[in-house]
Amino acid sequence: MNGDQDNPIITVENLMVGYTGNPVLEEVSFSVNRGEVFTVLGPSGCGKTTLLKAMTGLLPFVKGKIRIAGEDIGPGHRRDAVRRLRSRIGVLFQSGALFGSLTLWDNVMLPLVEFTDLPPELIATVVQLKLDLVKLGKDGNRMPAELSGGMKRRAGLARAMALDPQVLFCDEPTSGLDPPTAVEIDDLLLELKSVLGVTVVLVAHELSTVENVSDRCIMLDGEAKTIIARGTVESLKRESKDPRVQAFFNRKVSSKHLEVGQLP
Ligand SMILES: Nc1ncnc2c1ncn2[C@@H]1O[C@H](COP(=O)(O)OP(=O)(O)OP(=O)(O)O)[C@@H](O)[C@H]1O
Ligand SMILES: [Mg+2]
Repeated sequence: MNGDQDNPIITVENLMVGYTGNPVLEEVSFSVNRGEVFTVLGPSGCGKTTLLKAMTGLLPFVKGKIRIAGEDIGPGHRRDAVRRLRSRIGVLFQSGALFGSLTLWDNVMLPLVEFTDLPPELIATVVQLKLDLVKLGKDGNRMPAELSGGMKRRAGLARAMALDPQVLFCDEPTSGLDPPTAVEIDDLLLELKSVLGVTVVLVAHELSTVENVSDRCIMLDGEAKTIIARGTVESLKRESKDPRVQAFFNRKVSSKHLEVGQLP
């Protein structure tokens, strides 16, 4: 159920990536199994978004290898390889990043126009299907500014799913949402995984989301500039003696206590 471990859909080997000569991450290696939800954890600024940008072809990297869905994107970042990659993946950016001047319908249509030669009638059918998938089937005419935070995330997911990607990358899909709305997004991600078999690479802070949806995870650390823990969320929480790992989970536990009315 959690994928084919002998045939990972993503492998990252000895990745070094950063900005203008300053590496944010070094010697990062891991693989993601087909059909699993793989979560990248770690404190603010440790390089989670940077890793996702390298994996989605948005940020050239210095050293190492990334192979996703059969496509190698090396440090050279050949344009054709990146374009092929981007036709096989979907990305939900940290900020939601819908185009504010376009309707929801046009936002979802955009990747289909850019990456396919489908006739307009078929494109319309696909857009409607994707909006239905995230329960925004009647909202295609609305502008992003007219949507709630949860609806914006769902619209971003519809756009990310437009091309039926093999891998869906989501950067903090539930941050800033109230708990019930965050649970709706969690459930949607689980539905995409179980119904459509999509592999999900997720960056998440909210412990509820991390626990609800992750099959396996890695934790990054800004000072170490690499992976400091890996495994299931349960194994990290229960078995890791690393104070950085414990600090990450305990910070969240204390906010949970507050939710049930206890003082920290
Ligand atoms: N465009 C950029 N140019 C230069 N440095 C950057 C750029 N984007 C990020 N950084 C730096 O890279 C480091 C990692 O940033 P990144 O956004 O990947 O962190 P993050 O783990 O996603 O944090 P958060 O949880 O706050 O989203 C930080 O020190 C950040 O200041
Ligand atoms: Mg980030």
